[in-house]
Amino acid sequence: MARKSLCFLLLSGLLGYYLYIPLPDNMEEKMTVMLLAGTFRTLGHMAYIAELFGMKHYMEVLMLLTVMEKTEPTSDENISVIDTSFSNVPVRLYIPKRASDAQKRAVIYIHGGGWCVGSATMKPYDLLSRNTAQQLDAVIVSIDYRLAPKFRFPAQNDDVYAVAKFFLNKDVLDKYSVDPNRVAIAGDSAGGHLSAAIAQQLLNDPEVKVKLKIQALIYPALQAIDLNTPSYKDNADMPILSKHLMIHFWNEYITPDRTLGEAMWYNQHIPSEAADIYKFVNWSTLLPNNLKNQHVYSNPDSASSDFIKKYPAILDTRVCPLLSKDNELKGLPKTYLITSMYDVLRDDGFMYAERLRKAGVEVEHAHYDNTIHGVLLFNVWPLDLKIAHHIQNNYMRWLNDNL
Ligand SMILES: *[C@@H]1O[C@H](CO)[C@@H](O)[C@H](O)[C@H]1NC(C)=O
Ligand SMILES: *[C@@H]1O[C@H](CO)[C@@H](O)[C@H](O)[C@H]1NC(C)=O
Repeated sequence: MARKSLCFLLLSGLLGYYLYIPLPDNMEEKMTVMLLAGTFRTLGHMAYIAELFGMKHYMEVLMLLTVMEKTEPTSDENISVIDTSFSNVPVRLYIPKRASDAQKRAVIYIHGGGWCVGSATMKPYDLLSRNTAQQLDAVIVSIDYRLAPKFRFPAQNDDVYAVAKFFLNKDVLDKYSVDPNRVAIAGDSAGGHLSAAIAQQLLNDPEVKVKLKIQALIYPALQAIDLNTPSYKDNADMPILSKHLMIHFWNEYITPDRTLGEAMWYNQHIPSEAADIYKFVNWSTLLPNNLKNQHVYSNPDSASSDFIKKYPAILDTRVCPLLSKDNELKGLPKTYLITSMYDVLRDDGFMYAERLRKAGVEVEHAHYDNTIHGVLLFNVWPLDLKIAHHIQNNYMRWLNDNL
């Protein structure tokens, strides 16, 4: 008996030690955050070991979570849910059943997962799209684009662009009774990145006559030029997206060659000839003072020019939407931008908000100072956070008021 209790104590001690991570004072529901951090960390360790022993690619192991959370397309009394494809790209459609003469609104939604994992069919995304369809009486097109490492840039971008282009067509919108003046694009994390890139690309496509009314960018990644912004430094080990994992995602999106990721880690991947782009991501001028947090700005260390010749994608505005010039940002749709305080990508969002405003784009920036990256995923038991519902409700209200 005593031995059993001792074992139990030891095990809970070990588990507690494993799960415990220091979290900022103002973060709520710390136990749940630690539990979800532990889940993601365990998966990361498994992925690392599986790759070390040559069993599986790191990202294939992370993909387990996506597979575990897969849902079938399930219609309910209000919404028809259909898996189909637009332009040969799989999409999950949510179509309100309510009969009405008025045309509906629509949201093109792009899920997150670092261009490597995630799916429109995952429970948290399925629920988000379902709720959006229900609350806005809107058609939702949730895109299952191709993922790395099997497919790399520009496959992800090509897929979401193809779907957006297919859908933003009067005949197609007519078929779904959607008002061409009321279509949004939205996405979180890598999906926010793809949304921002697509919204920019659409401005320059004369074949697309229907314009987006709004874009909603939820903790998006927007640049891979300076990976030493204050948010990358301050939140390098925050759940669920460490600096290490974010760089791994950038690396896999662009190339299997891990020397890119290593150079990115030391911020030594941009050659000196390209240094004139630093001004587009200069956090010293683009961030509010309270976020600079005693960090001192220095330009990234320059790399040899051969480096960028190998990976020209890094300087592509489809990879780094923040590299677009002011006059290229002009004309972008009204923007809702969500950032989290304890997120490596926080400063990308702040810098984009500032640059969009300067270019004359209307921006509503919802910054949450007590939460982490990816928080909207935690809307279902057992990893269910109150703040996720709060953020989702505000997002839904903004969509309803502005779309
Ligand atoms: C369907 O819509 C009605 C009215 O808005 C609502 O009360 C009900 O809960 C909805 N059903 C589902 C399954 O969401
Ligand atoms: C970044 O901003 C700082 C402060 O405004 C300035 O001193 C520095 O020259 C800028 N660097 C670049 C590359 O724009």
